[in-house]
Amino acid sequence: MESSPHVQQRTRNNDVSLSLLLKAVVFISAVPMVVLAAFVAMDVLSLSHCVYAYITLLMTSGIIIRPYLADIAALTRYVNELARDSKIDAPELSRLGAMEELSTAVRKLHYSWGSKKQQMESMISEREVLVDTIPDILLMIDENGIIVRANAAARQRFGQHLSRKKLEEVAGNELLLRAVQEVKQSFKGQEVEFYLAHPTQSYYHACIERFPVHSPGGIALIVTLQDITELKRTEQMRADFVANASHEIRTPLASLIGFIETLQGPAKDDPAARAKFLGIMADQAGRMSRLVNDLLSLSKLEMNANTVPVGAVNVATLIHKVKDGAGFLTEEKNVTIKLDIEPDLPPARGEESEIHQVIENLVGNAIKYGRADSIVTIRAWLEKKPPRDKHFKDAFSAVAISVRDQGTGIAKEHLSRLTERFYRVNRAESRKVGGTGLGLAIVKHILNRHRGAITIESTVGVGSTFTIYFHVKK
Ligand SMILES: Nc1ncnc2c1ncn2[C@@H]1O[C@H](COP(=O)(O)OP(=O)(O)O)[C@@H](O)[C@H]1O
Ligand SMILES: [Mg+2]
Repeated sequence: MESSPHVQQRTRNNDVSLSLLLKAVVFISAVPMVVLAAFVAMDVLSLSHCVYAYITLLMTSGIIIRPYLADIAALTRYVNELARDSKIDAPELSRLGAMEELSTAVRKLHYSWGSKKQQMESMISEREVLVDTIPDILLMIDENGIIVRANAAARQRFGQHLSRKKLEEVAGNELLLRAVQEVKQSFKGQEVEFYLAHPTQSYYHACIERFPVHSPGGIALIVTLQDITELKRTEQMRADFVANASHEIRTPLASLIGFIETLQGPAKDDPAARAKFLGIMADQAGRMSRLVNDLLSLSKLEMNANTVPVGAVNVATLIHKVKDGAGFLTEEKNVTIKLDIEPDLPPARGEESEIHQVIENLVGNAIKYGRADSIVTIRAWLEKKPPRDKHFKDAFSAVAISVRDQGTGIAKEHLSRLTERFYRVNRAESRKVGGTGLGLAIVKHILNRHRGAITIESTVGVGSTFTIYFHVKK
């Protein structure tokens, strides 16, 4: 059988240098030598006997202490190897007790150091993982503003090689850099908000803290950056929305107040003017009421945005309902509604009242923004190629409904903004037909809640087609 290196290492190595052996033997024999010399001086022992006795003494003590010396040498080599962290087994020692115990103690000490080292290493790697799982950007910088460490979020945002870069190279914003300087000098943490154009146009909320203990790694400050771009955008949208909604309500309200004042004053006794003004006032009140209803619809949809409706909705029935309900509008403009509904269309997944609201809004727009004496076509079919949309990534089919009109059409630049709240291509026209500017925003919210999709195709002068997609109810 081949001997393994493991076994080879364990073979006894009892080389002891001659000079060491001689030194030890002479040292041990020093006292008996003095006694022998005294015997010679006192004539108790002849010089030749003394020499024989000394030589015998040297040889016997040499034989006795040689294994001890060999053990000490082997142990010394063993300890040196362990200090160098090499994987070595304990040497095989002569069975002289003390040395074996010492060797066992060294081995135990080595194992306990080894397990401590392993614990330390796993603690360090745990901390690394912990720091990397923090979603905020973490930059640790030294006294000179140089990045010492960065977490995964930081590397993802600012690039892989951040260590040794200056903070201003990575996040060169005046406010941030000034705050960092102040925290460095005052030892008091600070928070700032700032904007960076690179690598992405983003707003950040930064927390800057002095590192609480002296760090062997040279970390002096920790800078945490939270991306608040989305938050800022939502804040701005909310502010815009409140301003828009107030404006939309103020206009009819101002007109109502104006007419009331006129009716109370100058037109008090003018029945013809009163009848005309009351008609306008009813229109304005109706507009306010529609606006408030639409705003309530939107807020209800926003509250339930995360619950997906899962009912089975018969789309064909709904389309017939919408057609029947649009009678008054179609007569006014002499618009004909044509239906093209695929037989055996599977049910759509969703909430009936909301899908009804979507179709109603689209058909309403098609009639209102369509030409007089034109045709509005509503189609419904099972689409085998759902649109490229995040909500249909894993779907093989969708219930599709399209509404086509023969209206003025919508220029390309408006298409992507049509579903924004209060966005209108032609403000005056929308007012004239009684629009609130919220119809398509409601449509988009309903589709989002249903995890559906919408596509808009339009040619100026020809007309528009709005197509909506719902998941098939399984
Ligand atoms: N079928 C359509 N043809 C032309 N323009 C349309 C059509 N549907 C919507 N629009 C345009 O989109 C805008 C937003 O529509 P919507 O959100 O329903 O609001 P509104 O209350 O004004 O109808 C409308 O003001 C109009 O300019
Ligand atoms: Mg509308």
